[in-house]
Formats: sequence, C-alpha cells, structure tokens
Amino acid sequence: MKVTVVGAGNVGATCADVLAYREIANEVVLVDIKEGFAEGKALDIWQKAPINLYDTRTVGVTNDYSKTAGSDVVVITSGLPRKPGMTRDDLISTNAGIVQSVTENIVKHSPDAIIIVVSNPLDVMTYAAHITSKLPRTRVMGMAGILDTARYRAFLAEELNVSPKDIQAVLMGGHGDTMVPLPRYTTVGGIPVTELISEDKLNAIVDRTKNGGGELVKLMGTSAWYAPGSAAAQMVEAIVRDQRRVFPVCVKLEGEYGIDGVYLGVPVILGKNGIEKIIELQLNEDEKQLLETSRGHVKEVMDALDNMSAKA
Ligand code: NAI
Ligand code: 2OP
Repeated sequence: MKVTVVGAGNVGATCADVLAYREIANEVVLVDIKEGFAEGKALDIWQKAPINLYDTRTVGVTNDYSKTAGSDVVVITSGLPRKPGMTRDDLISTNAGIVQSVTENIVKHSPDAIIIVVSNPLDVMTYAAHITSKLPRTRVMGMAGILDTARYRAFLAEELNVSPKDIQAVLMGGHGDTMVPLPRYTTVGGIPVTELISEDKLNAIVDRTKNGGGELVKLMGTSAWYAPGSAAAQMVEAIVRDQRRVFPVCVKLEGEYGIDGVYLGVPVILGKNGIEKIIELQLNEDEKQLLETSRGHVKEVMDALDNMSAKA
C-alpha cells in the first residue's frame, strides 16, 4: 500500500512517522512546498528504521506530485495556522486555496485515492477538498472526531484513574467549541460513565474537551501534533487493512440526522472503500439541539467560503 501525506510540518511528519513505524503502508511519500523540508523529514524517518525495526520506505518530495502517483490513501495536512493580524476569513481563504490546489494535484496522479483532510478549519476544508475532487463523499473525509474523542477519553481516564484503553466514547458535530460529546454513549469497560462520575465532573470534562485544541495552543504557542498525527494514521490503517472500525469522521451529510449538504463529524464504519456506512444514532432532544447549533456554525463558515469564491 502507498500512502501520501501532504504537508511535512508537525502533524504531517508525525502521521508519516506512525505510518512507517507501525508498517501501516509499504511506502509513504511526504510532500511539502518548502524546498527540501519533506525530503529531510522522510530521510530522518527512514534512518530510524534500523533502530525501530520497520521496513516502510519513506520518501520526501518538494511539490512533485508525480512521485505520489498511484497512492491508495492521501492525508492532507498542508495549511497555515492562524497568525497575528490574520482574520478568520483570511485563514479560510488561504487554507482553502492550498487544500484545493493540493487536491487537484492528488486526484490527477491518484484518481482512485481515498482522501483524509486534516487542515483547519476542518469541516470546511473537507468541503473544499470534496467539491474539488469530484469524488464520491465516501472517499473524501475529515479527521477530527478521533482526536476530540481521544482527548475526552484521556481526561476521563485521568479523572477515574483507569486505563484509557477501557474508555469508549463517541463525539459528533464540527471540530471546534460546538462539538457534541455524548456522555450517554460513553462507557468504561462496558459500564455507563454516569455511574462512575458526578454530573459536575463530567460536565467539566466535556467543557475541557471542547477547548482541548485551544488548551494546547496556549501551552505551546502552536497547535498539537502527536495525537492529531496518530489519529490520521489510525484512519489510514482502518482503510488499508479494511478493519471496518467505528470512528467519528467528518463527511458530507445527505439527509442523515435530518441534515443535508453540511460536513459534520458522525460515527461511521471505515474500511477499504472509505466510509462504508454512516451510523445514525437516536439522539435525544438536547443532543439534537447541540448538533443543530454545530450544523449552523459549520454552514456559516461554508457560506463564507462560497462568498469568497464567488467574489474571486
Ligand atoms: P505546520 O505549519 O507545522 O505544517 C504545515 C505544512 O504545510 C508546512 O510545512 C507548510 O510548508 C506546508 N504547506 C503549506 N502550503 C503547502 C502546499 N501548497 N503544498 C504542500 N505543503 C504546503 O502545521 P501543523 O501543525 O502540521 O498543522 C497542519 C494543519 O492541520 C493546520 O491547518 C492545523 O490547524 C491543522 N490541524 C488540524 C487538526 C484536526 O484535528 N483536524 C489537529 C491539529 C492541526
Ligand atoms: C486541535 O484541535 C487546533 O485543530 C487543532 O488541536
């Protein structure tokens, strides 16, 4: 299996490293626009192979998409983080431009690839990649739900002093502070979490999860990469090994949850064809309301991108 990761920055390089050392692909191609950057990161990962004992071949290229030809899966992490003085609209339009041009190049050289978008704002960049690719919605998706759920599970594991392996949870909606964690669907070794934790503590963990990305930006001055890179690699693994794993993934909704034409995180089955199935949970009224708020927020940003494109 051949996997391309576009963007050799913090998230892209971490994802490529996980794909290599866990031998999820035979070949990993890392692409960046910065001269020599991807080549250097790929060489470093390759030189770790004799130490960590893996044989995945890692190759880096500067903007040369011919080397990505025939990729089975492509992860897009290219984009700018928001800088001082940059408005939210500047970020949307800059990153959409990057994601769209990357997607065009990817589809040209790997028309059968499955695309996983990581660049922010996630839900709207998934929209930008999907419409540019002209691929079915099952083959273009966004990574955020695995990361957000992992943060929620890690906070719960810490609070309950149990292994994070035993916490199962699902989280829906957009990637941002309108995300929708679902305590009703959270279990600890099969036990409903509400039997093990007070409502106040659970609410505090839900709030911390919603601000999980911001907490790390505050600490480090830039956004996270270990968990995001690993989360994207976990999606690649589910696809290339046809694992049919159940994960929250951002996809275009076409009537599911009563929503049409908006890109939101929902639980799906992920396998060799990409999104094999969207799972529709029976949400209660409160959960439906939270999802509706999240839908409204993502739709607003999608509309902002449409308006910018119309003016351009
Ligand atoms: P970074 O700045 O470390 O890396 C981005 C890389 O993209 C840079 O090396 C840059 O040279 C490259 N790049 C820019 N334009 C390019 C182009 N046209 N073609 C190829 N490469 C290009 O940023 P980092 O931390 O790796 O984050 C990447 C993106 O992922 C950001 O948009 C960030 O907000 C997002 N992110 C999303 C998460 C999620 O849950 N969906 C989690 C963490 C980050
Ligand atoms: C994160 O959640 C900022 O999307 C990035 O870490």
